[in-house]
Amino acid sequence: MEDIKKLEEFQAKIDADLKIEPKDWMPEEYRTHLQRQISQHAHSEVIGMQPEGNWISRAPSLRSKVVLLAKIQDEAGHGQYLYSAAETLGKSRDEYLEELHSGKAKYSSIFNYPTLTWADIGAVGWLVDGAAIVNQVSLQRTSYGPYSRAMVRICKEESFHQRQGYEIMATCALGTPEQKKMAQDALNRFWWPSLMMFGPHDSESAHTANAMKWRIKRETNDELRDKFIQKTVQQAEVIGLTVPDPDLKWNEADGRYEYGEINWDEFWNVVKGNGPCNKQRMRHHIKAHEDGTWVREAAIAYAEKQKSKQLVA
Ligand code: 3HC
Repeated sequence: MEDIKKLEEFQAKIDADLKIEPKDWMPEEYRTHLQRQISQHAHSEVIGMQPEGNWISRAPSLRSKVVLLAKIQDEAGHGQYLYSAAETLGKSRDEYLEELHSGKAKYSSIFNYPTLTWADIGAVGWLVDGAAIVNQVSLQRTSYGPYSRAMVRICKEESFHQRQGYEIMATCALGTPEQKKMAQDALNRFWWPSLMMFGPHDSESAHTANAMKWRIKRETNDELRDKFIQKTVQQAEVIGLTVPDPDLKWNEADGRYEYGEINWDEFWNVVKGNGPCNKQRMRHHIKAHEDGTWVREAAIAYAEKQKSKQLVA
């Protein structure tokens, strides 16, 4: 009886748009749903640094190198905010990382595609961060306090990420014929994988029903994907690029674009670990984690020494 009462009080808080805080009672399913989503969000931020890091030493100018470095550093910080939010749910960062390294936890499929040209870095900023903005602006209103506050901080930086990507794409698209070709090729390769970032259709989604009931998500996968498509197609048209969707057409009566279907076999194939870069991304992440062991040990030893000094003082 007591748990039923607690569950009713919990849902009443959710329905009143009150934030759930770490010390509040919450159903175990709510906790594990958040542990899964927030930690995978954090993993995505950190793994996402790899495809962009590939171009730091190849950036075409000092300015573009500095901008790219700043963006990648932001992503590392986003990962830290999100791991900290995930840790408030009673699981350690080491446990989350173990789940990632063992393949139990996922990260966004988009980061399993290679960045082959400089225009790809533009496509990543414009499309990947553009999609992330649509998703994360909505997640600012998520019911879990620490996640919502992390999203507010992260969203402040994301628009710079999207703008720097769109600037690269516009420079290429409005440049020489070879540069325009490079930009179109990048759009061709990143358009559909960017749409996959929003997850399966709502009807196929294992988690959306609970996510909406508990206001973890405020809009569904399909609603957010549609929002992203409607605004991004126009951005492509402004710089003279063609979205690689033969079914894309403007519906005058409805005032919106209609579009084709995602290749869900490709989506699940990449999610299941068979994308172009899955193995490389994980190998690199595990090596970097192992190479960084001494830094973590030194930082922990220093913190413990400081603590014992304070106890003695
Ligand atoms: N890549 C990998 N796995 C995916 C996926 C994708 N694009 N889309 C869905 N999945 C997985 C889900 O994780 C779930 O698997 P699980 O049960 O093992 O976790 C399964 O497919 C079913 O999907 P659902 O839609 O039912 O799952 P969710 O309700 O969790 O929705 C999500 C998936 C939309 C990614 C949601 O978790 C979410 O909004 N997460 C927060 C945002 C996020 O993680 N974005 C990733 C990119 S971060 C980024 O782009 C940073 C930017 O700065 C570059």
